[in-house]
Amino acid sequence: MTSSFKALELAQESIADLDLQLLRRKLRVTQSPCNSNVTVENRQLKAFCSNDYLGLANHPDLVDAWSQGGQQYGVGSGASHLISGHSAAHELLEIKLTSFQKKHIQNARALFFSTGYLTNLAVITGLAGLTERGDLSIYSAKLNHASLIDGVRLAVAQMNATVNLFDHTQLNSLTDTLTKDTKSLKLIVTDGVFSMDGDLAPVKALLQIAEQYDALLIVDDAHGFGVLGKQGHGILEQEEIQSDRIIYIGTLGKAAGVSGAFVCAQDSFIEWLVQKGRPYVYSTATPPAIAHALLKSLEIIDSAEGIERRAQLNQLIKIWQDEMIFSEWKKVSSCTPIQPVILGSNASALMAAKLLDDAGYWIPAIRPPTVAPGSARLRITFSANHSADDLHKLITTLNRIEQKVSKKVMHD
Ligand SMILES: Cc1ncc(COP(=O)(O)O)c(C=O)c1O
Repeated sequence: MTSSFKALELAQESIADLDLQLLRRKLRVTQSPCNSNVTVENRQLKAFCSNDYLGLANHPDLVDAWSQGGQQYGVGSGASHLISGHSAAHELLEIKLTSFQKKHIQNARALFFSTGYLTNLAVITGLAGLTERGDLSIYSAKLNHASLIDGVRLAVAQMNATVNLFDHTQLNSLTDTLTKDTKSLKLIVTDGVFSMDGDLAPVKALLQIAEQYDALLIVDDAHGFGVLGKQGHGILEQEEIQSDRIIYIGTLGKAAGVSGAFVCAQDSFIEWLVQKGRPYVYSTATPPAIAHALLKSLEIIDSAEGIERRAQLNQLIKIWQDEMIFSEWKKVSSCTPIQPVILGSNASALMAAKLLDDAGYWIPAIRPPTVAPGSARLRITFSANHSADDLHKLITTLNRIEQKVSKKVMHD
């Protein structure tokens, strides 16, 4: 029996509208572990699209650690951290994460979460609750990740916060507004590595501004943790930053190869989030086996193997920067494994992604609202498991595809 009712009609019309605008996304099913070579819908593809930058997601030592963790702790945590879900594995993980940032943040303590998305909601809304309604300003980088944006939106709804967006390449307007700001709590919020462009936030300059105007600086280093810095400890290590007013967020499902995320900051901020960070308080703790596997991942990130994996990534980034030359498409200057190619229209990006797929590559088209209208792109990402030869072959293929797409666009 089929029936039609208003909500269903609205859903169907909304989806049809996405189709019309070439904005509908498709799920694709993989049949192999995340790696540089994957089986997708029964076809072998070379993947240049995951965030598994160090190539750890299918590392045998991590797979072993995950099973050992399952043997030792079972598969579920059974409750939120504050009830009975906080295991020795979580505690050890937080101690290790703290040790990675303690040179950079005074009196540091780390808190583990199930995802980066929830961490960002908890951190922004939790810290927003330190003051009275209406007594908070948030300064948020325009190109911040959706999870930071959503955290800010919630803080606005909950605390009537004032929000100012700033361009991270142009900090004058940020200081101009801060000069006039009389609120007692000010949060400056930024991605460490911008997820769709791959460039770095000017963290040192932002910290100086935070110090000058008595603000807290929240840095979401989702794409820098594991990748940046000699030891892979992230953007604070790379930029040699030390401060007691940084709230550092790292994710553990990208370079760390597993799942989850953490915030590291002065102990008092973390204790407040344990008490008041709603996504922390009201959510079941991640299975301890995951925390156990993550301990192995941190060990690798910090080891000679981690250094070698980062050296391989840096070699790939150099080859790309030196050798990839487009005639029409725009390459963004990025020193990270995120190397976007801007095509502009949704149609061109979709066509390029389809031709890449035909040639055996998995690089999806990234379209609005993830990126600004008119800046649809291929978000190419490198993994330490890619070889220089893999990249040279990709460069040749992209040159061929650019010509095909450009010819088609001229014809249309
Ligand atoms: C900058 C940034 N922050 C946070 C997240 C969310 O992290 P998670 O995937 O662990 O929820 C992402 C995910 O892509 C991200 O790019």
